[in-house]
Amino acid sequence: MNSIWAVVPAAGSGRRLGGEIPKQYREIAGAPLMEHTLRALLESPDIRGIVVALDPSDRRADAINSLADVRVQTTPGGAERADSVMAGLELLAQQGSEDDWVLVHDAARPCLPLESLTELIDRARQSGEGVILAEPVADTLKQVAENGQISATVDRQSLWRAQTPQLFPLFALRAALGRCLEEGLSVTDEAMAMERAGKPVHVVEGPSSNIKVTVEADLAFADLVLRKRGGQ
Ligand code: C5P
Repeated sequence: MNSIWAVVPAAGSGRRLGGEIPKQYREIAGAPLMEHTLRALLESPDIRGIVVALDPSDRRADAINSLADVRVQTTPGGAERADSVMAGLELLAQQGSEDDWVLVHDAARPCLPLESLTELIDRARQSGEGVILAEPVADTLKQVAENGQISATVDRQSLWRAQTPQLFPLFALRAALGRCLEEGLSVTDEAMAMERAGKPVHVVEGPSSNIKVTVEADLAFADLVLRKRGGQ
């Protein structure tokens, strides 16, 4: 493993959260949500540079101080998350070398602790294979028919919820994701693209606080997590 880069897709409109301000710019624990996300990555000395994919019509990016960091560059995002990730990978492919790795981390996950990031990177270094943060499923899972009736209880023992960051060899991920996009597949995370390419992907347990802010209540939870961590 030579250098490790990061791609942060931040070009979503945050439709599910609603409101005028896209979720990555909503203020939590004294700063815009995306600021916390970028700070969490910049804290790691292992990360050589970060590409943030932004909506080209985004006029709020100036509010994010971390975007001015020398290790951060931006690129226009795309229609779907996977298109935004791909834009970041294409930029890095021009700058990186064959032996480089890249981790993809949602802008909407501001509560990533440095210990989890370090554990993820260490595991990839040891195994030489792709690794993602994930969390074992805690709830009982039901399969439900269209009429709302439960048709089965799903065994949760081997089920995990995928989080980000997800860490892979840069050029292998670019090829795998590119193939999925060409085939018109809806790819919701990078591991899915690598799995389809037949590459092994491992999980490292991530904390349940590493949530993807999606609905209003998530903002309050993330605010609490970050304030507590900051000793406020
Ligand atoms: O919409 P969702 O919560 O799944 O988005 C996950 C991440 O992907 C967010 O950080 C969002 O900004 C980003 N995204 C993107 N480009 C899109 C859609 C989502 O960068 N077209």
